[in-house]
Amino acid sequence: MSATLATVSYIGATILFILSLGGLSNPESSRRGNLYGIIGMTIAVLATVFGPNVTAAGIPWIIGAMLVGGSIGIYASRVVKMTQMPELVALMHSLVGLAAMLVGFANYIDPAATGEFKGAEKTIHELEIYLGILIGAITFSGSVIAFGKLSGKISGKPMLLPARHWLNLAGLLVVIWFGWRFINTHSVADGMTPLVVMTVIALLFGIHMVMAIGGADMPVVISMLNSYSGWAAAATGFMLSNDLLIVTGALVGSSGAILSYIMCRAMNRHFLAVIAGGFGTEGGAPTAPGGAPPAGEVVAVTAAETAELLRESKNVIIVPGYGMAVAQAQHAVYEITRHLREKGVTVRFGIHPVAGRMPGHMNVLLAEARVPYDIVLEMDELNEDFPQTDVAIVIGANDIVNPSAQDDPASPIAGMPVLEVWKARTSIVMKRSMASGYAGVDNPLFYKDNNRMLFGDAKKMLDEILVALKA
Ligand code: TAP
Repeated sequence: MSATLATVSYIGATILFILSLGGLSNPESSRRGNLYGIIGMTIAVLATVFGPNVTAAGIPWIIGAMLVGGSIGIYASRVVKMTQMPELVALMHSLVGLAAMLVGFANYIDPAATGEFKGAEKTIHELEIYLGILIGAITFSGSVIAFGKLSGKISGKPMLLPARHWLNLAGLLVVIWFGWRFINTHSVADGMTPLVVMTVIALLFGIHMVMAIGGADMPVVISMLNSYSGWAAAATGFMLSNDLLIVTGALVGSSGAILSYIMCRAMNRHFLAVIAGGFGTEGGAPTAPGGAPPAGEVVAVTAAETAELLRESKNVIIVPGYGMAVAQAQHAVYEITRHLREKGVTVRFGIHPVAGRMPGHMNVLLAEARVPYDIVLEMDELNEDFPQTDVAIVIGANDIVNPSAQDDPASPIAGMPVLEVWKARTSIVMKRSMASGYAGVDNPLFYKDNNRMLFGDAKKMLDEILVALKA
């Protein structure tokens, strides 16, 4: 393929990637957006493999690597459960970081790549390598720790070393010092020491940064690492002088940064406070931050009683959370929604920006179950409607409906906007036990007078409700 054709293909792929991101911003156009992305990536891969920078001898290697990588990808996509997607995404971000690191070292060692630069060009090329490896190493180790935390292999509790901010500052200064030494060396052998020292510090910094972040801040960390992986890809593009990789990396980097901002706003947190770490406790077991656990008794209901309440309602809001994903209850939810709508009940879904374990988690599940997009609303679009709602059903959600975020300034999730389900005439929380959610915070909602608890697996309970509704 000629260089001109490769450039034209790259421009076409870039346009398709931009259209893809535009499509993904709305559920209705997201399938089309995905398709644009697939076509763009196919063009990009073909234009690179058969482009002017790959010799014929290299093609079998590339095809071999693609076969191995593709097989692992197909296997992973078949065995990974929907609830494991966030971990998989974290693992994939780590691979982008690892690739940036390896490309950086290879680029530095390769005499064909380094030999041709002189003067200012040489300094710029070495800076690209230094920064590329730095971002790649932080992305790699940070994403591996995020994978560990999301999969429960590492505790979600923030690890707060004494004087951790000073440690980070010292690390930064050492990295700058070695960077200066690196660009002032005259041989690959001399430059290797500063490069390796910086890589080790960057790896440790990635581990330290994510270890210090508490469970409740993980949404921001995921989007932040997504952004880092984009910048790592862009850095790789600079090192390889590949314009498409630079543009694509910048697109991912900036959209990840926007997502981080959205996540921060959704949790009412400042980005720098998240990076500083320490917010949120270990997930899973109930804790009582800032005082005694909420007192009172919970009132349990059966599936039949829930069906009765629904039958008498005119307005219903469903709030799905992580438990709906665990139980794979989205299809059962849709069946109930359809049944109620046929009976003239207004049913809407309220989606919290950090519901589940990855951005857009609930939207994906509901779209899979073919829930109409126009009844799936953002938190801000229906939070004011709860007082006019007969029944609010919470399906496997916990932190995102926790009133202590508003009422208890000592709560670890204080200030986080939540769906105000307790303002409905009756709220029903569907979960298996009294265990807390991801942030490890007790939930006073369960003890409110107008709240009912429907204990059990969400899918099983919803199936029972549907049977009772149809009876
Ligand atoms: P959570 O607060 O984690 O609550 C989920 C609830 O689902 C649990 O309390 C659990 O209670 C219940 N559950 C689990 N399996 C179930 C099943 N099979 N059937 C019925 N219920 C089940 O979830 P949420 O309300 O969606 O809030 C999300 C949390 O995750 C936030 O703290 C958020 O910060 C964090 N987080 C979000 C993301 C993103 S990007 N969205 C990423 C990382 C972390 P039982 O065990 O009693 O059943």
